[in-house]
This record gives sequence, structure tokens and C-alpha cells, in this order.
Amino acid sequence: MKGLAQMFKFPDNFVWGVATSSFQIEGAVDVDGRSESIWDRLCKRPGAIADNTNGDVACDHYNRWPEDVKIMSDMGVGAYRFSVAWPRIIPTGRGATNQKGIDFYSRLVDGLLEAGIDPCVTLYHWDLPQILEDQGGWTNRDTAYAFADYTETISRALGDRVKTWVTINEPWCISVLGYINGEHAPGIKNDWPKALSAAHHVMLGHGLAVPIIRDNVPDGEVGITVNLVPNEPASQSGADRDACRHFDGFFNRWYLDPVFGRGYPADRVADLVKAGEIPSSDLPFLHKGDLETIAADSDFLGINYYSRAVIRDEKAENNDPPDVVSTKNETDMGWEVWPLGLEQILVRLKDDYNPKAIQVTENGCAYATAPNADGIVEDTERIAYFDGHIRACAKAIEQGVPLTAYYAWSLLDNFEWAFGYEKRFGLVYVDYDTLDRTPKQSAHWYRDLIQKGGI
Ligand code: FCB
Repeated sequence: MKGLAQMFKFPDNFVWGVATSSFQIEGAVDVDGRSESIWDRLCKRPGAIADNTNGDVACDHYNRWPEDVKIMSDMGVGAYRFSVAWPRIIPTGRGATNQKGIDFYSRLVDGLLEAGIDPCVTLYHWDLPQILEDQGGWTNRDTAYAFADYTETISRALGDRVKTWVTINEPWCISVLGYINGEHAPGIKNDWPKALSAAHHVMLGHGLAVPIIRDNVPDGEVGITVNLVPNEPASQSGADRDACRHFDGFFNRWYLDPVFGRGYPADRVADLVKAGEIPSSDLPFLHKGDLETIAADSDFLGINYYSRAVIRDEKAENNDPPDVVSTKNETDMGWEVWPLGLEQILVRLKDDYNPKAIQVTENGCAYATAPNADGIVEDTERIAYFDGHIRACAKAIEQGVPLTAYYAWSLLDNFEWAFGYEKRFGLVYVDYDTLDRTPKQSAHWYRDLIQKGGI
């Protein structure tokens, strides 16, 4: 940015959007033929969800979607990223299509297009049909092929109107939160062989889905969404730098490298063997040709950015004193507010991987701010968060990053997975007793920004 007084103008065709996901907002879990998902099942496990809630009603978006489209239209957003619930489309996981499930998304897509909002569909945002989990879920290679069949069905049904497709949301979360810390479905702990095979089959599913979308939506664009955490060592000691390399391999490169045709990072494989987390460097799930499939040529890379990590090797003796420390400016998730990290990761992606285009498919923050006596939700911290991160996008574009879209997470307060409804990420406040929606001040701020097309 040249000077503070000057406005940075985003390119005219830059996409300003908002994002949600099916399980987090839809509710209506038993309606119109939807089958149980792995998240319905996890919610029944005592202690799994902080406030003992579930997705049964959520924001009732399944019934209230016209109101939600109207809210987006008033905000002036150009695009809406939502996910399709696989258990609504193919309740048995693999096999017969449920027309009622297709009809729901078809109506939503028509409603969006009538309101001048472009739909962006995420095929998988974590609500796997439970029936597939009973057969091993993502640790079973067949699930990647079931995902391909589901992709075929839904892209045929919506591809005439939906032009932007995200295959998979956040393989790291699916793998590590699902199979190592166990906070996410299917809620398995400390099982690296399963975590790695699940990650592999999820990425294989992505690779299988790309050509299917290309066939069914010739004028569409397709990519995967990864959650990335830029990181830096707390000091320049060898121990901290090595811990940082390790973290980067664990969090970022394990997914980026295969998607960009480089296979799995050898240093990370060696780390896993050294730590005794896998028996040897043979990756038993890796079949001939898989890496080529996973490296399918896509149109964009989606990234979700929330925070950075400062890495310290706590076990190292006589380590250098840290010269980088996290600030205490944190959201309700305990995640540090660090806009510079977004700029850095975007520039790094351009330099290291050179994707054709990048879309920020999620960025946002949790703050509890409730309506005041006048019914106004003064979420100034959220505005500051968005302001800082959108400036970071502007700076990245100035450095030549091919950034084409920004989606704020989230349109609505919603079911924040293992945290239940306690963490509020919405631009729109949801009263969970009445299900009334109130756009927060940040929603008005975002509307103004979109109107100006700059910051
Ligand atoms: C991301 C998820 C999204 C939401 C945000 C806060 O990891 O993709 O569903 O939970 O975090």
C-alpha cells in the first residue's frame, strides 16, 4: 500500500464472498431422506461436544435458506461458498441417489443465482455418511472411489449452474483432528497409520474428482482447500529451526507437496519413522499412480487462514532465548490475531508452488459479542480482524500473488464442531432460541467494503 490515505483497489473481477458448511448450519438431519453422518454420531458421544449440543437444528438453514440468501444479497456479496451434505445426496454412501437431497441444493442454487450471487460448492466438508465409516471411512481406499461417484452425481445435477467447485475442505483437520487428537469425527486418537491413510485417500478423492468436474462442468473451475499455518522459529537455534521444519512438514507440506506433484516430503516421513509413529518409510496406502492422480491439474488452490504458529523446541536443553513470541491478541478460540501471516503464506505459495490462482476460501474470527440494548451487535474486534486480513490480501496482490477471491468465515454464527455453539464466527448473529438472524456491524462494514471494492 502506497500510503495510508490511499485506497487499495482490488481487481474488478475479484470475488467477495462468505462461507459456511452443511453440518454447521443446516439442521434438518432426519429430513427428506438424509442419512446419519459421522458428525451426528460423534455428537452422541458423551463429552465430545463442549456444550453437549449437536447439529439437529443448527441454524435451521435447511428451512430458512431464503432468508439467508436475502441477507447475503443485502450485504452485496458476489459469491457464497457452501458445502453439500453427502448423506443427503447418496444416503447409503455409495449407490442410489436421493432426489430430494439434490432438489434442496438445486433450489438453493437457483435462489442464489436469482439474487446475483455465484455459488461455490464444497463437496466434502466433513459430514461423511456414517455407513461408510462403518466400512472404515477414509482409512478405506474404497471411500475415495465412493467420493468420486458422489462427485459425478452432484456435479451432473448442479454443474449447469455451479461454476466453482472445491473438492475437499482441509485434509489436515480430517486427518489430524479425526485420528490423532480425536476431537473431530470419527474421534480416533493417536493413530498415525490411520491418520496418514485417511489423508491419502482424501487427497486421492480430490484427484479423482478433478477430471469428473472438468467433464461435467467444462466452463467451471476446481481446486482443493487446505488450511495452512505459517510458522517461524522462536529463536534461530538449531533446535527451534528444526522443530519449525518439522511443524511445517506436518501442517503444510504434507498436503501441498503431493497436490503440486512433489509426492510426500521425505523429511517428514523420516520424522514419523524416527518418532516411532509409523514402522517404516514404506507408506502402505500409496499405490502406483496415486501421486499422479493427486497432482491433477486444478484451476486454483483454496486456502483457509486463521492464525500463525511460533515454534519452540521445549525439550531442547540450553536453547537460545526466544526472540519471537506470540502476542496476546487472541480471538475466543485462543488463536493469535496475526494478519501478516496471511500475507506471508500467500507470497510463499506463489514463490514455492506457483499455483495458477489462489482463493482465500475461509478467514475469520470468533468473538462472543451479543446484541446490545438497542439490538446492535458492535463487533469491533471482528471488523479489526477482517480489516487487517483484507489489507494483507491487498499487500499480497501488490507482490504479484494471483489471489482471485476472499470468503469471510462465516455468514452465520454456527455449530463450531467440538466447541458446539459457544464460538461465534458469524457476520450475522444467530439467537439459538428463536433462530432470529441479526447482521452484526461487521456485516455492514463488509457490505461497504464490497461496494467500494477496496480498502
Ligand atoms: C475451519 C473449518 C470451518 C470452521 C473454521 C472456524 O477449520 O473449515 O468449518 O470451523 O475452521
